[in-house]
Amino acid sequence: MQELDILIRARYPLVYLITPEEDRALGALAQVVDEQSFKPLYVWSVTQGFRSLQRNGQGLWKPGQFSQTAPGTISPEAALDFVIKRGDPTVFVFKDLHPFLESPGVIRWLRDAVGHIRNERLEQTIIVLSPVMRIPAELEKDVAVVDFCLPTIKELGVVFDQVYNDGQVGDGHPSQLSPDTREVLLRAALGLTVDEAEKVYTRALISAGKLTECELDIVLSEKKQVIRRSQILEFHEESKTLEHVGGLENLKKWFIDRSGAFSEKARDYGLPQPKGLLLLGVPGCGKSLVAKTVSNLWNLPLLKLDMGRVFASLVGSSEQNLRSVLRTAESLAPCLLFTDEVDKAFGGMASSMGSDGGTAARVFGTFLTWMQEKVSPVFVIATANRVDRLPGEFLRKGRFDEIFFIDLPNPQEREAILRIHLSMRRKDVISFDVGDLAARTSGFSGAEIEQAIISAMYEAFADDGREFSQFDIIRAIEATKPLSQSMAEQVTALREWAQDRARMASCSPTLIDKSEYLRMESSF
Ligand SMILES: Nc1ncnc2c1ncn2[C@@H]1O[C@H](COP(=O)(O)OP(=O)(O)OP(=O)(O)O)[C@@H](O)[C@H]1O
Ligand SMILES: [Mg+2]
Repeated sequence: MQELDILIRARYPLVYLITPEEDRALGALAQVVDEQSFKPLYVWSVTQGFRSLQRNGQGLWKPGQFSQTAPGTISPEAALDFVIKRGDPTVFVFKDLHPFLESPGVIRWLRDAVGHIRNERLEQTIIVLSPVMRIPAELEKDVAVVDFCLPTIKELGVVFDQVYNDGQVGDGHPSQLSPDTREVLLRAALGLTVDEAEKVYTRALISAGKLTECELDIVLSEKKQVIRRSQILEFHEESKTLEHVGGLENLKKWFIDRSGAFSEKARDYGLPQPKGLLLLGVPGCGKSLVAKTVSNLWNLPLLKLDMGRVFASLVGSSEQNLRSVLRTAESLAPCLLFTDEVDKAFGGMASSMGSDGGTAARVFGTFLTWMQEKVSPVFVIATANRVDRLPGEFLRKGRFDEIFFIDLPNPQEREAILRIHLSMRRKDVISFDVGDLAARTSGFSGAEIEQAIISAMYEAFADDGREFSQFDIIRAIEATKPLSQSMAEQVTALREWAQDRARMASCSPTLIDKSEYLRMESSF
């Protein structure tokens, strides 16, 4: 609303307001305009043409209340002609003009109207209200784009009270809801539109017959479904904690130190909110694992953003997809936004101009700008395997709080990883010589160590279901050719790049020295 207020005051002739919530946006707009001056607000739709919105001077407005209609303004061309002919201070809202912006005629009319407002210095603003962003190239320079944010706790409160009171009347015996419970249920619906929140609350009320703290799970699971429907964002629930991650002590400490970073106390102390982290590293060394466990450590919800799907044309326009996802994430803040393997999504950016008309580059730009400007506490964790595929701007200092490099585990880390994975599967870890196994797995990633244990278990199970032993694991290790060998060049290049540009996730560097390999060989 603040942004709209400024744009209208600054006499921006054309604003593109993106939201699926027309009524809410119109209500907010009426309030903004009324607080400035009592300008008429004309709303256009292809079914009704222009109608002026009835208000009481303080933005109070009920959906569907119109005072006057402007006859003969059904077609977009006629409506834009109406705009050009009207000299008085006015805000014109166009509902769903976007499909018409494919017609060269309408684009020209709109440009004429914008030019007219600008040249005549009129106190007028044209607002295109639409759930999707579709701006023709001809208008790109003239338009200010605003994302209308999702409802706040306060707005959800109104919806909640309505559903709650209606439900109570039906029940016949009104009960008191504590403010804390109400707040928990309101928070649970953050990230939904007003309509969606109403549906979720109503469903919870109908299925449980009441709305109390016990219905929190119903509200949350409904919300998860709504969010999943976007097909790009997903709530991730992680049962593992930092204790399931072997080694990576520096990185773990970084996260532990920032455990309270999103609290009020940290704000009062004057701490800036952490922005995000880029985890670079060798495949299978625990980047995704550690990122996911942070949600348990910080006690924040983790949203998984599938960058690949942002680009999938099935789901809609890429840039719009990303914008709406980021808006959802912001409405759920404080939260973690985890985007895995960004190098794959943003790789080939340089060739983007040629292959996809610059879509990848634009989406990437949107993401970077958002990262730079975001004020809401959304902590981004991005992971990547290859730096050569990542655009330089991404890696520039200041974008992320830190870039961590996760190398192959050193001997102590391998011991820790072995212990973790053995104890996840068997109680008596003491019967294994973990030190010996660690020595034999030089050059292995965490994932490969885990795989060796699993293969050993399969071997033993196939052999009459006997218990697996040290020897089975050694055999599995012997049969494994670690990725670090087949990809030695890539690993070395990554390590070299990271040396002075990234922080090491482990306390001491990994050295795969020859003597270790020799010892491994000679022991057989
Ligand atoms: N440091 C570690 N401690 C414990 N387990 C580990 C560790 N590293 C890897 N693993 C095991 O290997 C699995 C795969 O690791 P993960 O998916 O986190 O690797 P990654 O670095 O994200 O790899 P990629 O680059 O291929 O995405 C984990 O789920 C975990 O079981
Ligand atoms: Mg991964």
